[in-house]
Amino acid sequence: MTAFVKNTWYVAAMAEECCDTPISRMILGERVVLFRLPDGRGAALEDRCCHRLAPLSMGDIEPDGIRCRYHGMKFAPSGRCIEIPGQDEIGPQMGVRHYPLVERHGLLWIWMGEPERADDSLIVDCHWHTDPDWPTTQGYIHYQARFQLIADNLLDFSHLTYVHRTTLGNSGFPDARPQIEPFERGIRLTREMRDIEPSPLHRMAGRFEGRVDFWNRQVWWLPSVFENWAGSVAAGGEGPAHEREGGFHLRHFSLLTPETEDTTHYFWIQPCRFPVPDPDLIHQVKRGIDTAFEEDRLIIEAQQRVMKESPLARPMGIQADKALNMVRFMNERWLRREAAERKAASDSPLPTGERA
Ligand code: FES
Ligand SMILES: [Fe+2]
Repeated sequence: MTAFVKNTWYVAAMAEECCDTPISRMILGERVVLFRLPDGRGAALEDRCCHRLAPLSMGDIEPDGIRCRYHGMKFAPSGRCIEIPGQDEIGPQMGVRHYPLVERHGLLWIWMGEPERADDSLIVDCHWHTDPDWPTTQGYIHYQARFQLIADNLLDFSHLTYVHRTTLGNSGFPDARPQIEPFERGIRLTREMRDIEPSPLHRMAGRFEGRVDFWNRQVWWLPSVFENWAGSVAAGGEGPAHEREGGFHLRHFSLLTPETEDTTHYFWIQPCRFPVPDPDLIHQVKRGIDTAFEEDRLIIEAQQRVMKESPLARPMGIQADKALNMVRFMNERWLRREAAERKAASDSPLPTGERA
């Protein structure tokens, strides 16, 4: 069974990464070339010319496609070969694999599965990232760790108290168990903490001088997108904390794209709303998130190294693992379903008339 769910959208790149130079990127173990035509359309193809297997990412972008640098064959965004220098006929089999690619909310989303099943209504809504009312920031981390270990980390905020003491943590997380609610596309986690000391990052971003009420509204979108609407507001007001005036809100998304079984592209975006308008705050948030995510990377990559060195050792569960175990189970169920679909497709008899 392949290690990755294929029929879903993954982030391939930040939109502004993809301009007039092709990008070669390994995604789910497949080498892909991303490029943008002069009219602005993005495209994703297998990064391997069908002629002598040179990487297309070394080629040149033209108005109607990408030209291989080796012998000059040209490929349309559909993957079809549209020119062979010195040869008039182009066989219908001449081409490379094409991947559906959609640009939305500053991100390029790729579909690595069956192209005919690509449905862009399934792309997770990240519209805050391009909403001018939400100052925003973003980042990318290349992880020497499998995506599931990063997912485990994001699904258990009890680590905030220990890993992120100077950034995102406060002492309340281990005791503030989230409510967990599964739904068709993942799980929802809800957490409230009243009358607590704010984390250093929330104190700075909200300019809070005293204690706060804090909320998390999180969604894990299978297989690997984490949405976290979190915030703080001065403690003690009436009504739900996230509905009160004067709060600091963040709409964070961690977008995990497996590179290989053991490495991951980690994209993140973080639109914010500040109670006090100050254009420098978003830069301070970026510095805080970069620091915090470096703290995560160090412990997760170390965890992966230990797991590699001791393949027979098995983790022992605690109650805080509930959400991450649910997501692991749901992703494994999805993988099994895709494997069964592939098997059924390969076992099905050819239509009459196509038998050898
Ligand atoms: S390898 Fe690409 S045209 Fe020959
Ligand atoms: Fe973390």
